[in-house]
Amino acid sequence: MNIEGVTAIITGGASGLGAGVGRALSKAGAKVALLDINQTLAEETAVDIGGIGVACDVSDEDSIRRALEIATAELGVPRVLVNCAGIGPHQRMLTKGDSHSSDMYRNVISVNLTGTFLCCNMAAQKMAELSPDEQGERGVIVNVASISAYDSPGGGVAYAASKAGVVGMTLPMARDLGKYGIRVMAIAPGTFETPLFRTSPRDIADRLAAEAPFPSRPGRPTEEFGALVSHIVENNFLNGEVIRLDAANRMPARFG
Ligand SMILES: NC(=O)c1ccc[n+]([C@@H]2O[C@H](COP(=O)([O-])OP(=O)(O)OC[C@H]3O[C@@H](n4cnc5c(N)ncnc54)[C@H](O)[C@@H]3O)[C@@H](O)[C@H]2O)c1
Repeated sequence: MNIEGVTAIITGGASGLGAGVGRALSKAGAKVALLDINQTLAEETAVDIGGIGVACDVSDEDSIRRALEIATAELGVPRVLVNCAGIGPHQRMLTKGDSHSSDMYRNVISVNLTGTFLCCNMAAQKMAELSPDEQGERGVIVNVASISAYDSPGGGVAYAASKAGVVGMTLPMARDLGKYGIRVMAIAPGTFETPLFRTSPRDIADRLAAEAPFPSRPGRPTEEFGALVSHIVENNFLNGEVIRLDAANRMPARFG
């Protein structure tokens, strides 16, 4: 798909990887809507990269519907959806005899997994109404998993489950939406330099990034993550696959 002139919706677009995607797609000529629970930051980032910021809580179906309506009214029906909204709290299964919080587990699944599904579900319906481009394409969806879907350290049960769910939905969603000319891909990032990454204590975050064989540093949200999203949008033959973007990094058994 040619990025020039298409409308792209990026959830979690106020910050981190989402902002990096917004920058990359906007630079390539897309009309960009940054949907985020942090409306103020979404609007500030949108001014910076040349798009619009829209309030949206991806764990709330009505909020997604409203945000998609606003974005569509201002920029047109989206042909690209990138689901970057996510949270990453960690907790061990047993801490000095106390069990894992079930509320925390449900919340992580609700934002990272169900939120991704709901955004795909609603955006795909809109994309299906578009006329196909010259390659027969109507839309491209890129979801964000994590290498924690495959090899999470301890303490990451809820997060890993949510991201493994995102990995698992990639192929069946691509199979279902293929007949409408909509491709579905996912990226499993390693460690990237974002506010979420920095919620870990600095020495742990730096050590995780340094453990990558090469390059031994955190990834770059715009130049590396945003660039891969742009490539996925442009490469018509990429579909139904999860790409690890991690400098060959594998997570250790524990963070601390
Ligand atoms: N940074 C990394 O190293 C890394 C690695 C693997 C996966 N990821 C994943 O990449 C995605 C982006 O993470 P990031 O590092 O850019 O984090 P970030 O905290 O910088 O950005 C996440 C954004 O999502 C928004 N958000 C949170 N809950 C939301 C909700 N309910 N509705 C709408 N927006 C919401 C936040 O306000 C924030 O702007 C997440 O899904 C994360 O799990 C990040």
